[in-house]
Amino acid sequence: MAHTAVILAAGKGVRMKSNLPKVVHKAAGKPLVAHVADAVRVAGIEDIIIVVGHGREEVQKVFAGDQVKFVTQEQQLGTGHALQQAEGMVDPGNTVLVLAGDIPLLRPSTLKVLLDYHQKQQAQATVLTTHLQEPTGYGRVLRDQNGGFLRIVEEKDASPEEKNITEINSGIYCFNAGSVFRVLHQLQPANAQGEYYLTDVLEILKGEGHRVEVMSAAEPEEIHGVNDRIQLAQAEKILRRRKNHQLMRDGVTLVEPDSIIIDSDVTIGRDTVLMPFTLIQGKTVIGEGCEIGPWTNINDSIIGNRVIIESSRVKEAEIGDDCIIGPYAYLRPGAFLHNKVKVGDFVEVKQSQIGEGSKIPHLSYVGDALVGKEVNIGAGTITCNYDGQHKHQTILEDYAFIGSNTNLVAPVRIGESSVTGAGSTITRDVPAQSLAVERADQRIVPWKKKKHDH
Ligand code: UD1
Ligand code: CA
Repeated sequence: MAHTAVILAAGKGVRMKSNLPKVVHKAAGKPLVAHVADAVRVAGIEDIIIVVGHGREEVQKVFAGDQVKFVTQEQQLGTGHALQQAEGMVDPGNTVLVLAGDIPLLRPSTLKVLLDYHQKQQAQATVLTTHLQEPTGYGRVLRDQNGGFLRIVEEKDASPEEKNITEINSGIYCFNAGSVFRVLHQLQPANAQGEYYLTDVLEILKGEGHRVEVMSAAEPEEIHGVNDRIQLAQAEKILRRRKNHQLMRDGVTLVEPDSIIIDSDVTIGRDTVLMPFTLIQGKTVIGEGCEIGPWTNINDSIIGNRVIIESSRVKEAEIGDDCIIGPYAYLRPGAFLHNKVKVGDFVEVKQSQIGEGSKIPHLSYVGDALVGKEVNIGAGTITCNYDGQHKHQTILEDYAFIGSNTNLVAPVRIGESSVTGAGSTITRDVPAQSLAVERADQRIVPWKKKKHDH
């Protein structure tokens, strides 16, 4: 049977005290609602509708280029009203999974178990529940004498006895689409909050004699919603621990893992070793057998195999196999290093290709450059790429040897196997197989130091 997921995310999240809607806040480098959508996808559901309202442009931005669909709930009149907005977009024959956008710890496996159970029981509705020692704030699940579903009562509508119930509604459900959308039209906001409660659908279906099931299988951690920034930090901690454990299970060594922070979407090959105080963010991909850190921060970069990066910053860069980076290197957006490149201490590379086997060992700035293979760039070399208005390109052909402290005033080209003399300011192209020297002759002047005149 075809499945559709509806993620409810129109609420503001007042307790975040934020200008942004709650569900776009990030945990482990990924917006809360993206964690939920990813869990849904991994569970096998591709058809995803997100109900948006507060800050909907911000939520839509999270999914730019994605297949996800959106529907707007103009006024937040309750969870039932929120789901109702998606009615025209769902085939009545589908199974609908409904869940909130603020539960980043939810596992795909839990969703799969719920979907399977719903199917097997041939239920019209199945609610996922769990038991909490501290159930305050959640809807409580009332059961009949036989343990069957009776109804869900919200905290604000519950009697003192009902408040003692520890089985709570996770807010995650499966429905037969035809049934749920039919019944949503019957909801009345006759409750303490004056809202259209999605939970009432279950009671109505049950009253009509339909099968409504309860699956009490959620691990409490998984359904924990993020409502404020303290809970955001708690969720983040759990996600990071899960990520680190997964990587270690997959063959990556983490030395002192509590000091290593890796975003959810990062992938790392086996036998790579991460040293302490290393932060790897965004959509970074790291190959096998690398040694990264200590004190290294990488984001949105692609790194090959057997790369060594020590105490460096790598940002939106691409690094080939067998490169050695740092300590204290800064690879900026558009830095593209072919295999076996060395970028040493206090070297900054931006928007430049560095050919195979080339070396920039110390104290250089290389920007907007095209560097061939086996080029050696001496200490202190600077590409003067910016004239205050425009950026210009520097081209260093294969086997060029750039003397220490060369200023390469772009646009400029150094031909194949050519050499620049140390300290030269090169303003004109240098042909292949030549030496370019630009510096004043050394003079010798007789001199006496004032203090030590002996
Ligand atoms: C809901 C359940 C409660 C359950 C709890 C689990 C109802 C009536 N109650 O309560 O039984 O224990 O979730 O966390 O459903 N939303 C909209 N539009 C609205 C209202 C809400 O999109 O008009 C979205 C919110 O953005 C949020 C989700 O629905 O993502 C849940 O809404 P929320 O107000 O937090 O529901 P609870 O009161 O927590
Ligand atoms: Ca909530």
